[in-house]
Amino acid sequence: MSDYRFFDRLRADAAAERRAIVAGLLANTPAIAPKHFYDSVGCALFGAICELPEYYPTRTERAIFVEHREEIAEAIGSGRQFVDLGAGDCCKAQGWLPFLAPTRYIAVDIAGDALARALARMAPEFPELEVTGIVADFTRGLDLRNDLGDAPTMFFYPGSSIGNFLPGEARRFLSDIQLHCIASEASGRSGLLIGVDTKKESRRLTAAYDDALGVTAAFNRNMLRHVNDIIASNFDPAAFAHVAFYNERQGRVEMHLAARAPQVVRIDGTSRTFATGDLIHTEYSYKYTPAEFTTLLQEAGFACVRCWQDPARDFAVYWAT
Ligand code: AVI
Repeated sequence: MSDYRFFDRLRADAAAERRAIVAGLLANTPAIAPKHFYDSVGCALFGAICELPEYYPTRTERAIFVEHREEIAEAIGSGRQFVDLGAGDCCKAQGWLPFLAPTRYIAVDIAGDALARALARMAPEFPELEVTGIVADFTRGLDLRNDLGDAPTMFFYPGSSIGNFLPGEARRFLSDIQLHCIASEASGRSGLLIGVDTKKESRRLTAAYDDALGVTAAFNRNMLRHVNDIIASNFDPAAFAHVAFYNERQGRVEMHLAARAPQVVRIDGTSRTFATGDLIHTEYSYKYTPAEFTTLLQEAGFACVRCWQDPARDFAVYWAT
C-alpha cells in the first residue's frame, strides 16, 4: 500500500503532445521541446551529467545550500507547504525537510515513473509528512490551486531549470508562481526558492554542455529514441551529431542535433528530408547575472528578493517573496 497520493495529469494531454512534437519536427526550423529529454534513459543520463566534472551547476548549487542552509531556512520559515517543481529523484528537496519542517510535500514532475519510484523510497522516511506526487507538464502552465491548502507555501525550483524557458516564458512562469504565492499566504509568507546559473566565460559554459565523455551527447541523441516511442517516427539517433555552444549575444547555451548525412525520416504519415548539417534544435539554457534575474523576479511580481552565491559566483540561489 502506498503512503502517498499520486495524480497523473499528463495522460489526458497525450494526443495534443504528439501533435505538438510533429508540428515542431515539420516546422521550417525543426525543434523538439527539452521536456522530451526525460524518459527513463534520459533521466538516468541527466543524473550522470550532474556528476560530470565539467557540469558545475549541480554541485555548486548543493554547496550554496549546504553553506547557507540555516540562513536560507530562517528566511523561509517553517511549517510551509513545500512544492517541489521538477522534483526528479526528490533528493534536493529531502535535504531541506529537516530544516523547514513542512506540513505537506507536493512533488511535481513530467517523468511519472521516476517520480513514483522517488516517492515510494522517500515517503516512508517521513511518516509525519503528507506526501503528494503530481505528474504534470508545468511548462504549459502551472495550476496547483486545487492542490494547495490555505497554508503559506514554499515553491522550490532548483537546478537552473528556469534557464530552459525563453526569457518571456520564464517571466510568465515566475508570475504564475507569484500568483500561487499570493493565493496561499493568508496566514504567513509564501515564496519561491530558486537556483539559477550565472553568465561566465564561453569556454566553461560550452564544456559543461559538451563533456569529454560524451554523456551530454548521449542525453541529446536519446531524445530521438524517446520521440520515436511517442510518435512512431524512425529517427536513427546515431545519424545525428551533438552540437552545443554558448551564444554570448543571447546569453544562452544552445543544443542542437545535426544530421551527419542526408536522410529521410518518417514523421506521422509524412516524411522529412535532412541534408548533411541540418539542425534540430533541442534546448536553450539561459544564463542570468544576479542583477538580470532579480529584475526578472521583480517583473514577475516578487517585491523582495534575497540572493546567495558561491565564492566564485558561478551560481546563484534566490528567495523571492
Ligand atoms: C535541466 N536543465 C537545467 C539542464 C541545463 O543545464 O539546462 C539540462 C541539461 N542539458 C544539458 N545538460 C544539462
